Order: sequence, then structure tokens, then C-alpha cells
Amino acid sequence: MSSKKQSFFVIFVSSFFLFSLLEINKANRSVFVTPSPPSSIVSGGYWELLQSSIGISAMHVQLLPNNKVIIFDRTDFGPSNLSLPYGTYCPGNDCTAHSVLYDVDSNTFRPLRLVTDTFCSSGSLDHDGILIQTGGFSQGDHLIRIFTPCDSYDDCDWNELNQSRLVDRRWYATNQVLPDGRIIILGGRRVFTYEFYPKDDFLNNHKSIYLQFLVETRDPDENNLYPFLHLLPDGNLFIFANKNSILFDYKRSIVLKQFPLIPGDDKRNYPSTGSSILLPLRLSSTGPLVVEVLVCGGAPSGAFLKADTMKIYVEASRTCGRLRVNDQDPQWLMEFMPIPRVMPDMVLLPTGDVIIINGAANGTAGWEDAVNPVLNPVLYSVNEEPDRRFTVLSPSKIPRMYHSVAMLLPEGRILVGGSNPHTSYVFTGLYPTELSLEAYNPYYLDPKFNSIRPSIVSVESGSSVLYGQRFGISFSLSLYKQGAAFAALMSPPFTTHSFGMNQRMVVLKTASVVQLTMFEYKLLVYGPTNGNVAPPGYYMLFVVHSGIPSHGVWLKVT
Ligand SMILES: *[C@@H]1O[C@H](CO)[C@@H](O)[C@H](O)[C@H]1NC(C)=O
Ligand SMILES: *[C@@H]1O[C@H](CO)[C@@H](O)[C@H](O)[C@H]1NC(C)=O
Ligand SMILES: *[C@@H]1O[C@H](CO)[C@@H](O)[C@H](O)[C@H]1NC(C)=O
Ligand SMILES: *[C@@H]1O[C@H](CO)[C@@H](O)[C@H](O)[C@H]1NC(C)=O
Repeated sequence: MSSKKQSFFVIFVSSFFLFSLLEINKANRSVFVTPSPPSSIVSGGYWELLQSSIGISAMHVQLLPNNKVIIFDRTDFGPSNLSLPYGTYCPGNDCTAHSVLYDVDSNTFRPLRLVTDTFCSSGSLDHDGILIQTGGFSQGDHLIRIFTPCDSYDDCDWNELNQSRLVDRRWYATNQVLPDGRIIILGGRRVFTYEFYPKDDFLNNHKSIYLQFLVETRDPDENNLYPFLHLLPDGNLFIFANKNSILFDYKRSIVLKQFPLIPGDDKRNYPSTGSSILLPLRLSSTGPLVVEVLVCGGAPSGAFLKADTMKIYVEASRTCGRLRVNDQDPQWLMEFMPIPRVMPDMVLLPTGDVIIINGAANGTAGWEDAVNPVLNPVLYSVNEEPDRRFTVLSPSKIPRMYHSVAMLLPEGRILVGGSNPHTSYVFTGLYPTELSLEAYNPYYLDPKFNSIRPSIVSVESGSSVLYGQRFGISFSLSLYKQGAAFAALMSPPFTTHSFGMNQRMVVLKTASVVQLTMFEYKLLVYGPTNGNVAPPGYYMLFVVHSGIPSHGVWLKVT
């Protein structure tokens, strides 16, 4: 208690003649930075309505390696606005769909048959690009469901396995693919354990393991559900819940390190839902790999009970915290977003920057617990100066409140859907159940960048690459600038409740660039170092030139 707080202020004057403030707090050594406009020329991008209704509300989404998106909500909402094909067996007389398969390339969708309840569940793609979806609610809370993508658009549907079940109920749990291809499933409502998939006698996976951290981070109103998980390049897990985070050795079940609390009063996990991403792992840079986690948004302590019981919607969190997790003595850098936000989705762009999108400026996650939707996405420019990282982008017209989603598509667009803060489908009043799908097109898709936009022609290794393998990527481009191109892998996350599970970006190490013809070049790169850096599975490969990404192509890392 005797430690004297000493703060000092540094005033910057930006080129826009606006003041910004940097405060370094010596007592807790976290640094607070307030934003001013960024120096880069970024325009607002534009929105596109893809479907006015897909018949269900996009609560959970996963992009598959055949450019289809599996979308689902829950089976206990009552009938949806999409009928199952005539003759489908429908238990409980609900002959409507609660899941669809959306085809990105043709902008069409078809109903899928889902019987057990997937409400507030989790998922991951396995190393073969098969969706392993885990848990949900009521009779579905121990289920492991499988969706195997098919080439024929009409052929595949859910397989709701019941032979191999989860050990514990997984409702609001988080998944992460591991370097050996297994999947860890961690936490959930009143469940303080983790377990692994697949269930296998040889792997001894038929039990769950207690994790005290999940008890310690639980408030009376929770604030630790859907914990943020990131697999780190040292093979350990970064786990964040509430305001706390740890470095966790899941193999030996040992907490290796406790990181400082994220500063301030804001809680970051459900129902004070914020979001988090692992910033790009740049294998291209010289020197030790920098490993950073970004956490944005959330709601102050007590916000959920105020919203839920008194209908008082306090202002959402204004801050992002950025932590270099592999520093000797990691300290949070705190940055102020231009708009407060709870339930933000954070989407990594192939440029290496981050879009913060969806959510509300007051209240929390939960039924009817938020107001004041934030319609403007915000760009977070990872490598800008600390006070000029945020740019406010063009607004959507559609509020995306509780149960909305956003994720990157191979063309570099962001798919945005869902929103349903009600316990059933409600199409009247404030924040009606949203059945629409939109795309947000970031600035880099503007045709004015066409001359510097690379286009991938071929990948030398074919559709897969080994760890450390050197391979060539041919791309065409009209105006090439020496040294301005890199290649990156982007994983397709499972997104729900404002968190993209398994979301990561790996910037590949470049060996050389050679010119093949007048407008064609070959980038020689190395596959990711190992499974800690990039767990096995499918990634979208992008070439980025002068900050403008190509279209992504699928590449399997094995
Ligand atoms: C869904 O169906 C209901 C009942 O037919 C209808 O009132 C409503 O407008 C539909 N909603 C949308 C978004 O299509
Ligand atoms: C799955 O198996 C369990 C245990 O055998 C059983 O109680 C449950 O009813 C089954 N659920 C479904 C959806 O078939
Ligand atoms: C760190 O200092 C800042 C600025 O004074 C303060 O707002 C914040 O609450 C402190 N964080 C902790 C964890 O004490
Ligand atoms: C949102 O929070 C701000 C700041 O506390 C408050 O002034 C405003 O009235 C709130 N808005 C709503 C709609 O409750």
C-alpha cells in the first residue's frame, strides 16, 4: 500500500493538430495511450447486403476449406424461418432448420438438419478440415458433432455422434487446436475443467482435468465464460478470463506464469464480453519472435447485474490491452478505442491489422442487456505509433448485438451476420432477430489499388506444405515494388460470442523473390516452423504487396 504513485504526462501534437495523451503509471507500469487520427490514408470501406434472410440467425460460424460456411443457432428457439426439405424426419414437430450451409462463391445457402441443441457451443476444424463441434445446451451439452465438408453441395449434413461424448457439460466453453492435432475444450458454465478430443483409450482422453484458474476468475455474475485461448509458439496456452491471464502447460497441467491483471475496472469475458486475438506471428522478422495478445472491449464490474435487473446500461469498456507475452516482465499497454464497445468481434486481416466490429456501446451480453449499437467498425493498425492506431470506418445500417458474428472470407471481405438478444425469434421491437448476412469490404478491396494488388497464380507445393518446407508462390502484379511483398497464412476460426477460436496469422519467412515474366513473380518462402507456431490443418494463403492482399488460396499445413 505504501508504493507511491508517480505519473507523468507527455503531450504529443499530431499532424492534425489534435492533442493526445500518453500516461505512464510507474506504480503498476502499465502504459495508457489515447488515440489521435492515424497518419495512413485509410478510407472507410463499404457494406454489402448478401442475403436479407438465411432463415436462421448466425450465432456460430465456421468457414470450411471449400469456401462454404457452416452457420447455426440453436434448436430450442422455436421454429426458424427456413423449412427443412419435405420428408425430412423432424422430432418434436419442428420441421425447420437451425443450421445452414452458405456457399461463399455463389452466395446461396441450403438448410441442414440439426436435432440436438448447439446453443452457446464451441468448435474447431481438425487437421483434415472437418468441423468438430462440441457441446451446447440441455440434451446437446455433452455432444461431439461432426460436419465433413463435401464437394457435392447437396450431399453432406451434420453427424450428431453420441458414441463418443464429452466428459463434462460444455456450454460457453472455448476450443483450441493443439500442435499434435488434438483439440482442447476448456471451461463452460459452472464447469472448471478441460478435456481433449478425440476420445481415445490410447490417448487416455476419457477424463477431464480440473483448472483452479476457472474458479478463481468467476464473479457472482461470471465474467469468465468463453475464456480467450491462444496457442503460443512455445507450445503453451495463453488463457485469459475476467481480468486475469496465465501461461498454461496443458500437458502437465501446470500454471507456468501469472500475467499482471489487465488494468482498469473492466471485465472482458461473458457476460462482460470483450474479444481477443493473438497478433500476427512474424516468422519474417529478424531476431526473437515477438508474441503479443490484444484484448479489446468488455464492460465494467457490475454492468451485467445493472443491465439485467435494473435495465441500467452503463457505458461499455473503452480500452484495449496489448501484452507481449514472451517478455521477461510483460506489462499491459492500454489504448483507448475511439468508441466504447461490448461484444466486439475482432477479425485479423491479411494485412496484419485488426478490425473491431459489431457490438454495443452500453450494457453487456445476455438477454435484452445491451443498448446503443456500435455500427462503425474500427481498424486497429498494429504497427502504427501507439497514439495513432485506430481508424473509424463506414457504418452498417444493421445493429449486431448479442449473438452476432464476423469473420474473414478468402476474398478479404468480412462476413457479418446474426444478432438476437431475445430468447426466441422476435421480429418486432428494438433489435429484432437478424436473419441477414452482410459483407464488410475493407479499404484494400477498392479498385484504386488494382495495380498493386497481387494475384496468386500457383503454389509450387500444391495444396499442402510441410513444416519448414521451402516452396514457391507465383503471383502476378502490374506495378511491383521491390521488397514490398510477403506471404501469410490465416486460419479459419470458429466464431461465436465475439471470439474467433483458433484465429491466427503466420507471416512466412521469405527466402527470395524472383521475376518470372514481365508481370509475374515468384516468392520463395518457408513453411511455418512447427505445430506450435501453426497447428496442423487448413489455412488461407495470402500474398500481400504494398499493404494490399491477394485473394486467399487454401493450403494444408502438415
Ligand atoms: C420470419 O417469418 C415470420 C413469420 O412468417 C415473418 O413474420 C417474419 O417477417 C420473417 N422474418 C424475416 C426476417 O424474414
Ligand atoms: C446419448 O447417450 C446418452 C447416454 O447413453 C443418452 O442418455 C442420451 O439420451 C443420448 N442422446 C441422444 C441425443 O441420443
Ligand atoms: C494502473 O494505473 C492506471 C492509471 O493510473 C489505473 O487506471 C489502473 O487502474 C491501474 N491498474 C491496476 C491494475 O492497478
Ligand atoms: C450509455 O452510457 C453513457 C455513459 O454512461 C450514458 O450517458 C448514456 O445515457 C448511456 N446510453 C443509454 C442508451 O443508456
